[in-house]
Amino acid sequence: MKKTIFITGASAGIGKATAKLFAEKGWNVIATMRKPENEKELNLLDNVTLLPLDVTNVDQIKETAQKALTLGDIDVVFNNAGYALLGVLEAITDDQLVAQMETNFFGVVRVTQAFIPYFRKRGSGIFITTGSSAGLMGFPMSSMYDASKFALEGWSESLSYELNEVGISIKTIEPGLVATDIGDRSVFVSHPAYESLMGKFMALIAHGEDVTTAAEIAEVVYGAATDGKNTLRYVCGEDAKALYGQRLAEGDEAFRDSIKKMMSI
Ligand SMILES: NC(=O)c1ccc[n+]([C@@H]2O[C@H](COP(=O)([O-])OP(=O)(O)OC[C@H]3O[C@@H](n4cnc5c(N)ncnc54)[C@H](OP(=O)(O)O)[C@@H]3O)[C@@H](O)[C@H]2O)c1
Repeated sequence: MKKTIFITGASAGIGKATAKLFAEKGWNVIATMRKPENEKELNLLDNVTLLPLDVTNVDQIKETAQKALTLGDIDVVFNNAGYALLGVLEAITDDQLVAQMETNFFGVVRVTQAFIPYFRKRGSGIFITTGSSAGLMGFPMSSMYDASKFALEGWSESLSYELNEVGISIKTIEPGLVATDIGDRSVFVSHPAYESLMGKFMALIAHGEDVTTAAEIAEVVYGAATDGKNTLRYVCGEDAKALYGQRLAEGDEAFRDSIKKMMSI
């Protein structure tokens, strides 16, 4: 029997790569995105259905989840939509910080809530979330993005106990730097007093050659969806594995010194 995955933020990057991989593997894919009318690639695939979803739109989350469930059974919900609000907190507006949490955190929470009753009645189902190594370690110049990703960590870990009770799994994918266009969708807020630190941070995230591809992260999502395990976190990408390993080995205080040394700050 064909399985089905529901994906948020499938118009680009990790979401699109995951939609393509699952379709290739013979799954039905419900690829949701803010503007399905602009999609030029996934709409050409037989087993992919496009549905509209802005994860900040509470009514649309409910409508799209209901519509998706009329298409057939759903086995996996992949909460992936997100963007990065980066830069200096004192210059970030209230609208900007609320918007970051609305998308990266409440979007995931609300989409999950919309599917829990269905998975509970069915006695099975897997939620997978795109977290980040920035949810396991705080990096300079990204306090709001990191807060949104740290929030997902505590939320998923706590939620795992109640969901496991009714046969549902929850898993988080933790990539390091991934070669996507996230920079184009992200918001960078600068302030003259922090120019030097911002410059060092931008240089750190700009390096390209050893970055993981979205296709490689999609393989990790596929593994999480099919490994039959109840693992909570999948740290992925050599950069994330090395840095997180270092943080665990050094402890969080010494690790902050290592980050400072790494960035010459
Ligand atoms: N790239 C990295 O280095 C990296 C590392 C760790 C974690 N991540 C996480 O991976 C996830 C995917 O990012 P990506 O790197 O693949 O970036 P991306 O190429 O920019 O893709 C982001 C996707 O999220 C969608 N999106 C943004 N806001 C949305 C909203 N309100 N409602 C619905 N969809 C929305 C975008 O849709 P539109 O086309 O409509 O804008 C796009 O499809 C994010 O959660 C990000 O935080 C990325």
